[in-house]
Amino acid sequence: MIVALTGQKGGVGKSTLAIGIAAEMLLRRHKVLLVDADPQGTVRTWGEVAAEAGQPLPSIVSMGSTMHRPEQLPTVRLGYDDVIIDCPPRHGDIQRSALMVADFALLPCGPSSADAWALAASIDLINEARALRPELEVRIVITRKQGRTALGRSAREELAKSGIDLMKIEIGYRVAFAESLGAGQGVTAYAPRDAAAAETRALVSELLLWEKKHRASEAGAQPDQVGRRR
Ligand SMILES: Nc1ncnc2c1ncn2[C@@H]1O[C@H](COP(=O)(O)OP(=O)(O)OP(=O)(O)O)[C@@H](O)[C@H]1O
Ligand SMILES: [Mg+2]
Repeated sequence: MIVALTGQKGGVGKSTLAIGIAAEMLLRRHKVLLVDADPQGTVRTWGEVAAEAGQPLPSIVSMGSTMHRPEQLPTVRLGYDDVIIDCPPRHGDIQRSALMVADFALLPCGPSSADAWALAASIDLINEARALRPELEVRIVITRKQGRTALGRSAREELAKSGIDLMKIEIGYRVAFAESLGAGQGVTAYAPRDAAAAETRALVSELLLWEKKHRASEAGAQPDQVGRRR
């Protein structure tokens, strides 16, 4: 599947989650392509640190606002099970391109109501993409959550009003995320017993379960079409 980490706001945890998800899929022996679509190059830098530290890492390529073109990601992805795209904040053209090829768009969002309000600009882009591609799955994932605060609960209610579904799993505010990147690892390999790793594994499982159900419903529709063609 192709998962794009998107959102107009900076510093919400897109790159951290993109790397954490890609590295966990790699641990599960998937063939993973990690696309760095951010000129800041967080993913590329992480890849260099990982290579220098001798850590296993997914294939990493840089792509921009033309990644949706047939000769770009749709061709490059053929050798891989999964593709994770780390989008830059603000660059609407790059996010649009990612949303043209993604199966699943994940929008990380902080746990406060202010974070929820800041999502408005991202939701415009998402709705534009969904108008063109109704099959695009979009979910918000709450990140950097601190404790079971009332703030966290109100954010969930606030976000539900956006018309975009939320992932069941919520990601806490945990230092292991930042540490793992510095060590050139994904958080599930860096600190497997940390809550950050448990949350990342649960996030990946939720994504893969969606994919399984999605493929099953596609396959359910197909024999009928084949039958009709015969
Ligand atoms: N769940 C988390 N818990 C604690 N710190 C986090 C978490 N997620 C991200 N961070 C930290 O927040 C900062 C921003 O994260 P990150 O670079 O992943 O965000 P981003 O959305 O990719 O930012 P940008 O928009 O600039 O690309 C980093 O210092 C990162 O270590
Ligand atoms: Mg980033």
